[in-house]
Amino acid sequence: MRGAGSEDRSMKATAQAPANIAFIKYWGKSDEVLRLPLNDSFSMNLSGAYTTTTVEFSASFVKDEITLLNGAFSEKEIARVVKGLDRVRERAGSKLFARVVTKNTFPKGAGSAASASGFAALTVAGFSALGIRLSEKELTIFSRLGSGSACRSIPDGFVMWGKGNLNDTSYAYSLYPSTYWDLRDILVIVDRSMKKVSTTEGHKGVQSSPFWNNRSKAIPQRIDRILIALKEKNFREFGEVIEEECLDMHHVMQTQVPPLMYWNDATKRIMNAVIAWRKKGLSVYFTIDAGPNVHLICEGQDEGRVRDALKGVSGVEEIILNKPSKGAQIISTHLF
Ligand code: PMV
Repeated sequence: MRGAGSEDRSMKATAQAPANIAFIKYWGKSDEVLRLPLNDSFSMNLSGAYTTTTVEFSASFVKDEITLLNGAFSEKEIARVVKGLDRVRERAGSKLFARVVTKNTFPKGAGSAASASGFAALTVAGFSALGIRLSEKELTIFSRLGSGSACRSIPDGFVMWGKGNLNDTSYAYSLYPSTYWDLRDILVIVDRSMKKVSTTEGHKGVQSSPFWNNRSKAIPQRIDRILIALKEKNFREFGEVIEEECLDMHHVMQTQVPPLMYWNDATKRIMNAVIAWRKKGLSVYFTIDAGPNVHLICEGQDEGRVRDALKGVSGVEEIILNKPSKGAQIISTHLF
C-alpha cells in the first residue's frame, strides 16, 4: 500500500468516546454482517468509562499496528480493528496503513462495553486523521458496523438507536443531552476477566430462547414507558422499566441454546442488596449488560447513600462512578 496515491506525510487524530449503558437492550441481530438489531435500544453515555484512541496514517508505515496500552488484544480483536480501519480507508479513498494506540479507563470484555467506546473512538479518530468530515448519523453507522452498541456512543447523552432495516436506516441519535437529568451510574466491577462468549457470538442464539417472542413483543411498550418516564423525570418508573428490561434480557440469554450465564455470586448479592435497599427507602435500581458487573442507577442526590450502602457488600473489586456524558469527541489532530 505504501505511497500508492497518497501524500508523503503523517496524519494523526485522537478521539475520546464513552461507553454506554443500555437501558433498553440490544440482544439479537437481523443481519450479522451489517449488525442490524432485532429491536430499537436506548442508552446513556458514561462519563467515567471511556476509550481514548489515537489513529495515525502515514505513507511510511508498511503495515497496520494496533496497540492497547492497558491490556492486550487477541488476534481476533486485532483483525476486527483492522476491518474497521479498512471501512474508514475505503470511504476516504486512502490506501495508507495506520498505527492505532488505544486505552480504556475500565476492564475490556467484562460486559462494560469496551467494544462500544472502542469502535466509536476508532471511527471518529480514523476519519478525522484522514481529514474526512462525516455527519453524526454517518459516524453512528460506521461505528455500528464495528460493534452494534458503538453507534450509541457517538451522540450526546441519552441516545436511541432505531433498528432500521438497511445499512443507512439503522443509526443512533440523541434524545436528550447529557445535562438533561442528573443521574448516576455506579458501575460495580466484580470481575475484571474477559467473558468467555463474546456478544457477537451471543447475539446469534437469541431466537433459540422460548422467551424471545415475549421479549420482542414487550420491548415497544417498554420503550413507550421509558420515554414518558424520561420526559417526566419520573425516576421510580424509569428504574422499574430498566430493571424489568435487564431481567428480561438475561432471562432470554440464560434460556437460549447454548445458554449464557453472565452473573456470578457477587452479581446476585448486589442485585438482592439493591432490592433490600429500596425496601428501606433508597431509590436505586440495577441493570447489567453482557457480563457480571452491575450498574447501579440512582439520582445524583442519592449517590452518597448508595456508595455507603455498597461498602457492606462483599466481592466488589472496583467502583467506576459515571454521570451522563457527551458522545465521542475529537481531542486533537495533527498534520505533519
Ligand atoms: O454491541 P455488542 O455486540 O457488544 O452488544 C451489546 C449487547 C448488550 O450490551 C448486552 C446490550 C446493549 O444494548 O448494549
